[in-house]
Amino acid sequence: MSQALPVTIRRLGPEDASAFRVLRLRGLTDHPDAFTSTAQDWDLPLEAYIERINAGHVIGAFDPETGALLGHLFLPTHLATGVKTRHKCEVWSVYVVPEARGRSIAAAMLAHAIERARSLGFSWLKLQVGEHNAPARQTYERLGFKVYGREEDYLRLADGRSITELMMQLRL
Ligand SMILES: CC(C)(COP(=O)(O)OP(=O)(O)OC[C@H]1O[C@@H](n2cnc3c(N)ncnc32)[C@H](O)[C@@H]1OP(=O)(O)O)[C@@H](O)C(=O)NCCC(=O)NCCS
Repeated sequence: MSQALPVTIRRLGPEDASAFRVLRLRGLTDHPDAFTSTAQDWDLPLEAYIERINAGHVIGAFDPETGALLGHLFLPTHLATGVKTRHKCEVWSVYVVPEARGRSIAAAMLAHAIERARSLGFSWLKLQVGEHNAPARQTYERLGFKVYGREEDYLRLADGRSITELMMQLRL
């Protein structure tokens, strides 16, 4: 089990937009195999980041001493609008900076997301992960997410790699 690092988990506000932009672009650039979006998709002005933050679904992990943003995930509950499907929501874009990994920060952000989704009345939380992505799969499995599907050739990367994706879900 990872040795937990004290972190503050909270939803981002507009004041976090610059730090969020740096982290988002770093994650997308360094891990094209982990995210569907590209760094080009997110090469946007700060205002676009503020808009996404104002939609209310970006959760961040902060160093309690320095205030540095160490990781993020998205919990886009506002997209769960279909009358027959609004009992389910998704987690997207889990990312922790390399220098803070292995300290349960992703697990802490996910625990926060799980509590928030539960308190909003959702019955299921879903996410996707590359089959090859052992640290991410381990984090999700430890929190109780179960694989319910597998899609071959889900992503094709610029370097020619093909990524198989697993679909995971957690009953809240
Ligand atoms: C996946 C990621 C978010 C995990 O963040 P983290 O804060 O280091 O995660 P945690 O410390 O909460 O948990 C990591 C778990 O993976 C385990 N782990 C680390 N390396 C591993 C490996 N090579 N094989 C198997 N498990 C591994 C750790 O032991 C830990 O499990 P444990 O708590 O049972 O010991 C982070 O590695 C990351 O940002 N990766 C790049 C982007 C990415 O892949 N995002 C996920 C997209 S689905």
